[in-house]
Amino acid sequence: MDVIFSLAEINDVAKLLLEKINKKTVLCLYGEMGTGKTTLVKAIAAALAVKDTVSSPTFSIINEYMLADGESMYHLDLYRIKNEEEAIAAGVEHCLYSGRFCIVEWPQHAHQLLPENAVICALTLLPNNHRKLEINL
Ligand SMILES: Nc1ncnc2c1ncn2[C@@H]1O[C@H](COP(=O)(O)OP(=O)(O)OP(=O)(O)O)[C@@H](O)[C@H]1O
Ligand SMILES: [Mg+2]
Repeated sequence: MDVIFSLAEINDVAKLLLEKINKKTVLCLYGEMGTGKTTLVKAIAAALAVKDTVSSPTFSIINEYMLADGESMYHLDLYRIKNEEEAIAAGVEHCLYSGRFCIVEWPQHAHQLLPENAVICALTLLPNNHRKLEINL
């Protein structure tokens, strides 16, 4: 399904997305630079009542946030990852197969490692500063 939204509607989009997916899943978030991937992750984390600060893991590669139920979720940004070996060394594979909720920005940088049952989403920029989120379920 496709959802078109403005920044003012992002919290509703995050809730809708969470209703559609299993919260133990790996969510691959494709989209060019600056399309709003991290911003959407912030809204998803807010909808899950994450109290930790959600920031872009461009340099850390992996962020972990505590969820209300005591489990945690992972937020990965593979922009700086160049190959499978680098991804494994950074701990990416561990997160992807942890059984925890895991959202991945720039998943194409470690496509060999992605689980088969990952949910694929893609963000694109539209005119008037709107975004389109494609959810492939
Ligand atoms: N839905 C939206 N509507 C309007 N502006 C948005 C939306 N989402 C994000 N933005 C703005 O776009 C800019 C880039 O957002 P963000 O950092 O989330 O992009 P990104 O896709 O994570 O980029 P990168 O590829 O560098 O990680 C920010 O200034 C943000 O405020
Ligand atoms: Mg980002």
